[in-house]
Amino acid sequence: MRSDNSLLTHVGIIMDGNGRWAKSRGLPRIDGHKAAEESIHEAVEYCGEIGIRYLTLFAFSTENWKRPRAEVSFIMFLLSRFIKRNVDNLDRKDVRIRATGRLDDLPSKPRADLDAAISRTESNQGLNLILALSYGGRAEIVDAVKSLTEEIQSGRKSVMDISEEAINSHMYLPDVPDPDLIIRTSGEIRLSNFLLWESAYSELYFTDVLWPDFRRRHMQEAFVDYKSRRRRFGDIDGN
Ligand code: IPE
Ligand code: IPE
Ligand code: MG
Repeated sequence: MRSDNSLLTHVGIIMDGNGRWAKSRGLPRIDGHKAAEESIHEAVEYCGEIGIRYLTLFAFSTENWKRPRAEVSFIMFLLSRFIKRNVDNLDRKDVRIRATGRLDDLPSKPRADLDAAISRTESNQGLNLILALSYGGRAEIVDAVKSLTEEIQSGRKSVMDISEEAINSHMYLPDVPDPDLIIRTSGEIRLSNFLLWESAYSELYFTDVLWPDFRRRHMQEAFVDYKSRRRRFGDIDGN
């Protein structure tokens, strides 16, 4: 789904640089992941305040499972802790917690905490906070193709029905509009498998700031930059 030229409806953030933040302070990498919580707070608060409808945070990729087991376990522990510590406050702020990714790959504890937070906040009308967990853009496309193929094999759809809309309707969160803006911290200029299908016309913003240092003023800078862009979606400029 494409949104209006000037609106900022959906923001995606590739929260990168936790390890380097810790290393630069002589700390273990996991301390960088711990410090990330404050940045998440600010991002969620700020987006809620200014009326952003969807905020997708890339928290753990399908490729991040390759990391040392201790680091992965710690990130999973932090996920549970983040949910438990914040769900009351997020619920009060009318935030709807959602998730995208291969959630079945998550260990049972964080999965249960996540599911509980999702159902508890299901009817909230404020910011949609979408946690991308065990998320990969290619995995999402593979999963969509699989479920679309199943529909075709069962005779409910035919090959002629394959269209962008049909594929879209099989993505993890088909009701969520495509991201208008994707921010990546830590100076890396790549998507690293984030929202590949959905980012076709997203505006991209890269900053050298490491995620644990990312504050609302950095987010404001990104939004100001976004407002100066002209989105053409392949068309010619209007007047
Ligand atoms: C982002 O920070 C968090 C995750 C990918 C889980 P990193 O852990 O990738 O930090 P750097 O890139 O090594 O500094
Ligand atoms: C992307 O960061 C994934 C998340 C932020 C969760 P990575 O640190 O995994 O990406 P690469 O390896 O530098 O591309
Ligand atoms: Mg990284």
